[in-house]
Formats: sequence, structure tokens, C-alpha cells
Amino acid sequence: MTTMNAKISVIGAGNVGAEVARRIVEKELADVVLVDIIEGIPQGKALDMLQAGPIVGYNSIITGTNDFAEIKDSQVVVVTAGLARKPGMSRDDLLQKNAAIVTSVVENIKKYAPDSIILTVTNPLDTMTYLAWKVSGFAPNRILGMAPLLDLARMSAFIAMELNVPVTEVKSMVLGTHGDLMVPVPSQTTVSGKPISELISKDKIDKIVDRTRDGGAEIVGYLKTGSAYYAPSAAAAYMVEAILKDKKEIISASVYANGEYGLKNLYIGLPAKIGEKGVENIVEIKLTIEEKRALQKSAEAIRENNGKIIQ
Ligand code: APR
Repeated sequence: MTTMNAKISVIGAGNVGAEVARRIVEKELADVVLVDIIEGIPQGKALDMLQAGPIVGYNSIITGTNDFAEIKDSQVVVVTAGLARKPGMSRDDLLQKNAAIVTSVVENIKKYAPDSIILTVTNPLDTMTYLAWKVSGFAPNRILGMAPLLDLARMSAFIAMELNVPVTEVKSMVLGTHGDLMVPVPSQTTVSGKPISELISKDKIDKIVDRTRDGGAEIVGYLKTGSAYYAPSAAAAYMVEAILKDKKEIISASVYANGEYGLKNLYIGLPAKIGEKGVENIVEIKLTIEEKRALQKSAEAIRENNGKIIQ
């Protein structure tokens, strides 16, 4: 019960934000402050979740507000504020609009929760994480982005479906940017410890890799009015837990590269040790030549986006 009085703020009380908040209070990871600019939405959703406590059996306190001052003393602030993708819209279409939102949100975090760790969820993810770092002026280890964990979860789900095995037996790896140039890493992907290349034909692996890359768009195509939130919120809550419990677990995340994998001065999806300090260190694993090349391409795409919003 050591984490009972931890405090987490979730900015954006939309689909992803509300679901992140629900997962955190249901697991009693922390008390939660849910913030949105729309009046009434965070208050209403928070009160509704508080009233689920007596039934589900959790004691965490959740409050909703439009006032950023209430995020004071948060250990972690999860940023989900922004527009979600609509059908036909690429993550990059969101760039300018979400950059303005994330800038104003991070200015508030800097002002009211200057000691927090920022976990970004807003897309385009790697660029929004870079922007959060720039605007906050925080040390790079205190800013990280959720997305590679979501991408690899999607890949694991597709592999489990293909082989008809429990998803928990599948360990996938996806690096690079959260977007069209993400880098699924089949060479590091296993089922019950066996490399997938021994279990699935090259053809089928390629199809799974493509479906993973388009994983977000596939869901947008079905939902039509919004984008995915169950798996994204699960990934964000998992990362919050790793930080609060100082797990030092290796989790793929959008992290600040400072020479690792030959990459510098950008946020990009890499395996990293996550604990109470945020990103403890980036873990270098062996990649094939193609995977390394794909990672470089991914980095170029991120840099191009970064250049559009930050001079
Ligand atoms: N401060 C606080 N909240 C804001 C702000 C702001 N400046 N600007 C917008 N919001 C809120 C909106 O009012 C809305 O309630 O952010 C919320 C976003 O919720 P949704 O539209 O439901 O979007 P969601 O599906 O939650 O996705 C949010 O996460 O996965 C990414 O691509 C997705 O960038 C998108 C983000």
C-alpha cells in the first residue's frame, strides 16, 4: 500500500484520458486528478468513477477539474489532450493543432507540477514528446512517450491470433516512430521463447508487420468518430505503474536518444529501463541491418516533423 497516496494527473478527459484514469484508480495505483478544458466533463466522469469504487472495491480518490492548479504535487502527469484522428486523417495532419494544445498543457505542468514526470500520449507521439521536453525544460529522462508499447501489443495480439496461442506467450518488439515508419522487430519477437521466424512463414510475418503498422488506422476505420483507446490507455497505465513502483522494467517507449543506436537529439521509440526517475537508461539490443536502416528512416521522419514545429 506504499503507493496509496501517490498522485497522478491525467490531462484530457476524452476517450484515452478517462480510460487511463479509470485503470489507475481501479488498480489503486494513485489518486487521480482528471483535467480538461471542457467544463463539466472531467468533473462528471471523475464523480462517476468515484461512485464505481464501492462496487469494484477501490479506495482511490478521483477528482475532475478545469483548473491546472490542482495538478500540484503530481508524480506523473499523463498528457492525452488533443484531437484524435478521424478517418482519412494521418497522425501528421494533427501536428499543428496538437502542437498548440500540448504547448499550453506543458506550460501549465511546468508551472504547477515542476517536479513531475511527463508521459505523453498525444499524437504525433514522438514529436509531441520532443515538444513537451522543449517547452518544459525538464531533464530528458523526465519526459517519455507511450506508443511503442501499444504497437508491440498490437503485434503480439496479431501473432497470437495467427498461431492460436495465448497472447501472454508472445513477446514482440516495435521500435522507431509511432506512425507509418514504425519499426516492428521480428528478429526480437518470440512465442514461448521461440523466434517467430521458426513458427510463421516470412510471408505471414510481413503481413503481421504491415497490419501492426496500420493498427491505429484499422481501428479508426471501424470507429469512424474517434481513435483507439482501450489498448492505448492500458499501455499508458502500465507505464505509470512502472514509474510509481520504480520497477526498472525494460519497456519500449518514446525516449530521448543521445547517441544510442546512432541517434541523437530526438525522441524515438527504443527499449528503455523505466523507473521512478522516468527513463533510467536506454537498452541497446542487436538489430539486423534492415532493422537498423528502418530505424534511421524512422528517425528522419521524426526530425522532419520536429522541424515543422520547433526551429
Ligand atoms: N487542455 C486540456 N484538455 C484539452 C485541451 C487542453 N488545452 N485541448 C483539448 N483537450 C481535451 C478535449 O477537450 C478532449 O476532451 O482533450 C480531450 C481529447 O479527447 P478525445 O477527443 O476523446 O481524444 P482521445 O481519443 O482521448 O485521444 C487523445 O491521444 O491517442 C492519442 O491520437 C490521440 O492525440 C490523440 C489523444
